[in-house]
Amino acid sequence: MNKTHGHVGWVFLAAALATSQGACSKSKDSGDSVNQNQTKEGPEDQGPELPRLTGGDATRGQQVFRFETFGNEGFWTDAVRLPAGVVAAKLTPVQALQAGLSVNVEALDDATKTAVANELASQGTSGPLLNDPATTLALLNANAVIGVVVKDTNGDGRLDVASGDKVGVSCALCHAITDGSVVKSPNNLGGGSIGKQIDGPTPHNLNVGGIFALAANTRALYPLLQVKLAANGNKSIGRAPSDQGLTETSTEAQVDALVSNPAFYPLGTFDDAPDGTGAQQHIAPFFRTDLAAPWGTPGDIARLENFNNLVYTVLLDPTSLVTPDGRAFLQALGGVAAGNELADDYLTILKDTQVQGKGGVVGEGFPYITATLLSDKAGTEEAPVGLRVNEDALRDLNAYTDGLAAPAPGAFDATLAARGKEQFSARCTRCHNVDQSKRVPSFIVPMKALFPGYNPTVLAERPAEAGVRPIAFAPIQDDPATIFDDKTVVVEASRRGEPRGSAMPLLFDLGRKDRFLHDSSVVGLTSLLDPLRGDKAPHPIYVPDASQRTELVEFLKSL
Ligand code: HEC
Ligand code: HEC
Repeated sequence: MNKTHGHVGWVFLAAALATSQGACSKSKDSGDSVNQNQTKEGPEDQGPELPRLTGGDATRGQQVFRFETFGNEGFWTDAVRLPAGVVAAKLTPVQALQAGLSVNVEALDDATKTAVANELASQGTSGPLLNDPATTLALLNANAVIGVVVKDTNGDGRLDVASGDKVGVSCALCHAITDGSVVKSPNNLGGGSIGKQIDGPTPHNLNVGGIFALAANTRALYPLLQVKLAANGNKSIGRAPSDQGLTETSTEAQVDALVSNPAFYPLGTFDDAPDGTGAQQHIAPFFRTDLAAPWGTPGDIARLENFNNLVYTVLLDPTSLVTPDGRAFLQALGGVAAGNELADDYLTILKDTQVQGKGGVVGEGFPYITATLLSDKAGTEEAPVGLRVNEDALRDLNAYTDGLAAPAPGAFDATLAARGKEQFSARCTRCHNVDQSKRVPSFIVPMKALFPGYNPTVLAERPAEAGVRPIAFAPIQDDPATIFDDKTVVVEASRRGEPRGSAMPLLFDLGRKDRFLHDSSVVGLTSLLDPLRGDKAPHPIYVPDASQRTELVEFLKSL
């Protein structure tokens, strides 16, 4: 979105959306803007190149990626109470690994490294050290648990969770793995390993919902969960049945039950939309960001630094949503009534659970994070809730992730892969490029073009308002637990004047992945390409011949 669009621009686009969506998605989702012309190398029209902040320092960017929190330790410690939950649960290192957390061996001192190595050699993972909750705290204090960052908030010059130092979350939590050189992750899928930290690849086994459930006050994550609002007819959407959506009176146990149920909160996913729908997306790769734009599954954000600022200012500290600009953002997403209700319910929960913001008063002093207030930019993708974190840090982070290499492919059959490349050129280049070192085409593939069976039923009407669509859901092959379009119920690219649908993904590191498409709905590459999924399923581009399919799978694994 260009600089002259402010709030006004957004509302204008939203109004356009309301008219085009009124007739149930026929006009805008009909596939008219997918490029129908392909060459053997890729689509003829690659879409415009989208700019980003450049000129940053990648070395500083690595520190940002791994350790920068901008103060969100206030949220994770005082509101969500994650460290209190970890202590209360007596979480052992082995249990942390089972939750998909990883340990960076390079952060450990030599004595600990040796002790862990000796124990592993003699007793595997059943030795006392790796099953002692005290070791978990020692690992945290060494800042060795990837993405869980201890800050010296009590200023005594050392890191110690037990003496009150606060714990925040960095990007590395969901966007890094290790080389597994000390303890391998199960099935080599990433997450739950000990070794040298590798930034960028997805920890596919990370149990984000399970980690949230560990926290002593998971209710403080309310806007990121599947909730039922009166303004939406008390219906909710997400993987859990509609009537099981949470409310502001749901107990901690009820919230924990929802997020720790892998059917409702699958491994390797996180719901990155603060809109009260339960729309967990599979964690996307965060490397070679020089090649992939626009951002977010729906391609709603044009610039990388804007996506990253949204993560810092909303997702890693959602208390920004109870500020006036945060409230306006929720209203723009979900309508005035639902937006206000979500913010009110959230504030009620924060008060009921005695959450103190900055300044130590219950229910006041939000958000915790340090960011510049840019109220005139509120509602734009630059500062959706009117907040912008440090611009140099955003620039450095871009430099770092732009330069992060895609992981080398695992084992594949080179002869089959070469034949598979022919298949790919012939069948897939209407949308994807063959050469993955070229930037990803920047167009959005409209919903109906990607998911021909898309035919949503309305769960609840919402007040007629610009840009607010009904609460509708569109199960894949009648499976009510599927959520292919849930993220786009309120978040989509029409803000940028683009259709509602999916952005093109980077096709790297696929051999390490076992669930495909943004909602993790397809298990295995072979099944992704198998016509058995049916011509109405999402991404129905198939290879009917089984041996050609195998060739294409080998090609995809080689990328
Ligand atoms: C709790 C897990 C989690 C954390 C922590 C997290 N992310 Fe992500 N990230 C995700 C998920 C899930 C997606 C996929 C969402 C989507 O595509 O809409 C994603 C995708 C991304 C993408 C790629 C989007 C695309 O279109 O390819 C970027 C860039 C990104 N995150 C940046 C960040 C930054 C910056 C941070 C730290 C400030 C961060 N993330 C922290 C879960 C997380
Ligand atoms: C109409 C455009 C289009 C065509 C044609 C197309 N794709 Fe895709 N592809 C997409 C989009 C858009 C996505 C992202 C969808 C999502 O995440 O839900 C995608 C996702 C994928 C993914 C999943 C990536 C992941 O990490 O989950 C793979 C693999 C893939 N495509 C391979 C292929 C192959 C192989 C072909 C040809 C047989 C093909 N695609 C043809 C648009 C297309």
